[in-house]
Amino acid sequence: MTVIGTGYLGATHAACMAELGHTVMGVDVDKHKIASLARGEVPFFEPGLPAVLERNIAAQRLSFSTDYAEAAAFASVHFLAVGTPQKRGSYAADLSHVEDVITELVPQLRGKNTIFGKSTVPVGTAAHLQDMANELVAPGASVEIVWNPEFLREGFAVKDTISPDRIVVGHAGTTDVEAIAREIYAQPLSQGTPLLVCDLQTAELVKVAANAFLATKISFINAVSEICEIAGADVVPLAKAIGIDDRIGSKFLGAGLGFGGGCLPKDIRAFMARAGELGADQALTFLREVDAINMRRRDRCVDMAKAAFGGSLLGRRVTVLGCAFKPNSDDVRDSPALSVAGSLSLAGAAVSVYDPQGMDNAKKIFPTLDYAESARAALTEAELVILATEWQEFRDLDPAATAALVSRPYLIDGRNVLDIDAWQAGGWQVKALGRSL
Ligand code: UDX
Repeated sequence: MTVIGTGYLGATHAACMAELGHTVMGVDVDKHKIASLARGEVPFFEPGLPAVLERNIAAQRLSFSTDYAEAAAFASVHFLAVGTPQKRGSYAADLSHVEDVITELVPQLRGKNTIFGKSTVPVGTAAHLQDMANELVAPGASVEIVWNPEFLREGFAVKDTISPDRIVVGHAGTTDVEAIAREIYAQPLSQGTPLLVCDLQTAELVKVAANAFLATKISFINAVSEICEIAGADVVPLAKAIGIDDRIGSKFLGAGLGFGGGCLPKDIRAFMARAGELGADQALTFLREVDAINMRRRDRCVDMAKAAFGGSLLGRRVTVLGCAFKPNSDDVRDSPALSVAGSLSLAGAAVSVYDPQGMDNAKKIFPTLDYAESARAALTEAELVILATEWQEFRDLDPAATAALVSRPYLIDGRNVLDIDAWQAGGWQVKALGRSL
């Protein structure tokens, strides 16, 4: 098989399919990315992935190429894993990369081929790509497009790919797609992962619906946290109490700075845009509110920071712990932490940032912040500390020892993960989103 597109999703998928015993070629138009992966170097931070990559290159189950002709000759199963970013100036998804793959690959295919789409796409895309493929396919060859959405989380990408909690395959044909999927995913299926076979449109929608639900759940608790702050309640025990009801469930009820990353924000926007195109925009107008609640948390955090200095941040030394969109990731795309750090800086604060993995990426987007070499260096002489990404390193900070580093022990817990009593006992004045302390 080939995996076309070796970004976060594709590089992980290629390495993990090889780990499952398949012979895999990773393909990308980016020469630097391919050269790095071929050397066994993962160009982003993902725990466990470098070892899987190295092991499978050494076992000669995994190779890389930039050549579509080579890819077409190599396999009859092709995974499509290129990005579908938000279009500039619009909420819609940019499908140019997926379309480019079809245009480049399909004319070179011979015999019978199956393309498994993994990218997150607006509903209807797979049928459109099948129409494109039918136009482009060489005489005597055949191509069937099926949709096989990916649900991996950054930070758990290897585990989520090798033992996913479900495998969804959508197809429009009558061929043996299910048999091919069963062969590819034989190992997780033998371990009990359910396989759900459906039509193309349903498979495409499963992915965006799942992400829209997760985003909604986070914004729900963040909306409740706005009320908690005003009413003098505490969102942390509240979330615990409602989460015990297994119809609700405790996961994704973490109130705080909200969601970011390369998936949830863009996926809910593309879902709204697609609903509008389909004439059903009312069905998803609530996602606008989900987005707005999420963005308001960042503003609220900046307002809390201003209030900590009586209204003005001018010249104040603020330390922001974390700039990745979540822990165990170096991804800063739409990161709430980096957004807060940037806003504080634009409001006149002297912002010092430390993140165990995210700083190289953050420097490219926000070069004007002061990136410290360590948490200790970032904290030294701070007048306000904001916990913005809940890395374990920050959760493990000792309140008394940290108080000794700063010039004023004032803390905002933007992720509601710290032991407030311990920090208060360590001499800190503590504020948190959704909690009246
Ligand atoms: C998400 C989906 O989980 C995954 O299934 C999909 O394939 C891609 O999008 P990911 O972007 O890696 O994965 O991050 P996830 O772990 O879902 O977290 C998303 C964001 O929500 C993060 O910014 C996180 O900090 C935030 N979050 C999560 C909360 O604010 N509160 C929570 O309770 C949980």
